[in-house]
Amino acid sequence: MADARLKDQRILLCVCGGIAAYKAAELVRRLRDAGAQVQVAMTGEATHFVGTPTFQALSGFPVRTSLWDEAAEAAMGHIELARWADRVVVAPATANTLAKLTHGLADDLVTTLCLATIAPITVCPAMNHRMWLHPATQANMATLRERGVQVVGPEDGPLAEGESGPGRLSEPEAIVAALGGAAR
Ligand SMILES: Cc1cc2nc3c(=O)[nH]c(=O)nc-3n(C[C@H](O)[C@H](O)[C@H](O)COP(=O)(O)O)c2cc1C
Repeated sequence: MADARLKDQRILLCVCGGIAAYKAAELVRRLRDAGAQVQVAMTGEATHFVGTPTFQALSGFPVRTSLWDEAAEAAMGHIELARWADRVVVAPATANTLAKLTHGLADDLVTTLCLATIAPITVCPAMNHRMWLHPATQANMATLRERGVQVVGPEDGPLAEGESGPGRLSEPEAIVAALGGAAR
């Protein structure tokens, strides 16, 4: 069922390069069903997993993948995009991007947007369970939580490589419910 609390919320969805990137497409659809406006930014790595036309069709907005897209910058600069958002959602959030966010790096579009926004940030981690349980990732997550970043998931269960453990992206429905709770 659509979550009325997300109606007219402007959500900037940042998609990273993990196997769960395909689930971000379903997330866009559900957010739009809930009445949110969604713009999508992807890391360069994410484009290996899902193409920009998928997100463009589902969001109704051009999709950005680089800081160095002159046409996109002319339409809406990345700082303007960071300002546009009521909330930034990073899903799936890779171990790499989570580490970069922790340390304030801004070496691609997604990390620059996350550093340039004053909107609240939600991250939805998804990765191999060993990457998730690694002390470096756990320390990064503790820092992000301390900073007020909302963390949704990951879930425990079967992983893409035939293994099992904590690292599955939360289901889009659960992410939308968590975002609705945060929007109250
Ligand atoms: C097939 C494949 C699947 C991957 N899945 C994940 C994943 O689920 N989570 C993750 O953190 N990294 C995953 N990686 C590694 C990331 O793609 C890699 O760390 C990349 O640098 C992440 O870039 P980004 O954070 O800029 O998107 C995967 C790599 C490959 C080749």
